[in-house]
Amino acid sequence: MIVLGIESTAHSLGIGVFDESKGILANEVFKYPSLKSGYLPRKLVEFHSKNLRKAVEKALEKASLTTKELDAIAYSQAPGIGHCLHFGYVVAKAFSEFLEIPLIPVNHAIAHIEVGKFLCNAFNPLVVYVSGGNTQIASIALINGRKKYFIHGETLDIGLGNFLDQVGRMLELNPPDAVGVLNEAKAGEKYVMLPYTVKGMNLAFSGLLTAVEKKKSVERKQDLCMSAQETAFSMLVEASERCLCHTKNPEVLLCGGNARNKRLQEMLKLMAQEHDARFCVPPDEHCGDAGAMISYTGWLMLKNHAVSKNKLPKQKMRIDEVEIKW
Ligand code: FE2
Repeated sequence: MIVLGIESTAHSLGIGVFDESKGILANEVFKYPSLKSGYLPRKLVEFHSKNLRKAVEKALEKASLTTKELDAIAYSQAPGIGHCLHFGYVVAKAFSEFLEIPLIPVNHAIAHIEVGKFLCNAFNPLVVYVSGGNTQIASIALINGRKKYFIHGETLDIGLGNFLDQVGRMLELNPPDAVGVLNEAKAGEKYVMLPYTVKGMNLAFSGLLTAVEKKKSVERKQDLCMSAQETAFSMLVEASERCLCHTKNPEVLLCGGNARNKRLQEMLKLMAQEHDARFCVPPDEHCGDAGAMISYTGWLMLKNHAVSKNKLPKQKMRIDEVEIKW
């Protein structure tokens, strides 16, 4: 069975191909550049439509396939930016009707987790999912007799990635996002005191952002970036450690766009090792938003009869709303 996956929840357009017998065959990603002003949904869709044909052709070429050999089309149904989700849905539906093959709606966050499990050979991890809009600590549990990801802790305001992106814009870094913060932080020398907000298993980042803004005129950018990262990551690792002590999962899986941050990987790995858990993180290419994670999860859903009849895109859908049938 071969599934083509379309990812278009936000700034990235991704086309991936997953083959049941050969694994991930293609993963083409076109990313809208980070801007100081943030993103305009209309501009994102223009970018996606401009690059769609190129992305599909490149992915099929890499996979050495034609559209006739595809068995299903998967797309990101939720969560994300309305305009972008609708674009992906319409493209996927057109493909599915034209080729007369099934249409599979995939939860974007579940896809981040599942592709991480697949690539890292993890079976029962404590998931630390960090992206622009989300920061969640979760693991599989039986909830009212149904297998779902139970969210032990999460952000109460903005996602970790969103926080770092906003610090990048506020300090006018290049690039003005989390990558800029990571680069500047490497030259940090002094820890600047910032608010540390862990509430039970949950986290809050907005106070931290306000504090960075207040101190930006008196502190070095490098020191502020290092301190912002260290504080935010320590909060996340503390809450994750508390979860792991309760759940005793044999693995800790870091996934989502901000999982590429090497400092966060280092901190979480140390914590996991102290609790005899294997630390897992997928390769950089599969941490960010991409089509391969959608094609893989689409295949998983099709194979396990988990394809929902409700295909319409949704801007909000938590991971604990999805029943895991595999
Ligand atoms: Fe994502």
